[in-house]
Amino acid sequence: MDIVFSESELEKVEEIKSRYPELQAALMPVLWMAQKKFGWLSKEVMMYVAGLLDLSYAHVYGVATFYTMYFKKPMGKNHIQVCTNVSCMLGEGEMIFRHISEKLGINNNETTPDGLFSLEEVECMGACGGAPMIAINEDYYENVSIMMIDDKFDLLKQS
Ligand code: FES
Repeated sequence: MDIVFSESELEKVEEIKSRYPELQAALMPVLWMAQKKFGWLSKEVMMYVAGLLDLSYAHVYGVATFYTMYFKKPMGKNHIQVCTNVSCMLGEGEMIFRHISEKLGINNNETTPDGLFSLEEVECMGACGGAPMIAINEDYYENVSIMMIDDKFDLLKQS
């Protein structure tokens, strides 16, 4: 895949840049756009973004590697995040993580061979009131149960 935004995406980048007095401030939303388009932030993608924003590759790399929401390696089509921090741990978050891990046959930070799922154990995602919770891509699921997870994953495998 060529590492290049379309005309409309470049217009969006310009619109984002116009929101801020400093180009550095546009980096995070443009990195997010790049991840959405290219799937993850390879060195080539980060260099492309650096060029768009007239920033150094080192700066872009520093930001991309600081935030866990930016993927530094290819991820599955469905990125599963399971919170095992205090509230979720008390709500059996660790058991839920183990269940998903066994169900998918992968460990933390791994991707299934078919590329459908990647699994990540995460810290608090700010949804403690709905513990235990998981996230699938950008959707949060709260008060999850093993049965709910099994149903959801069966649906995801069919889609
Ligand atoms: S502890 Fe799990 S969302 Fe806060």
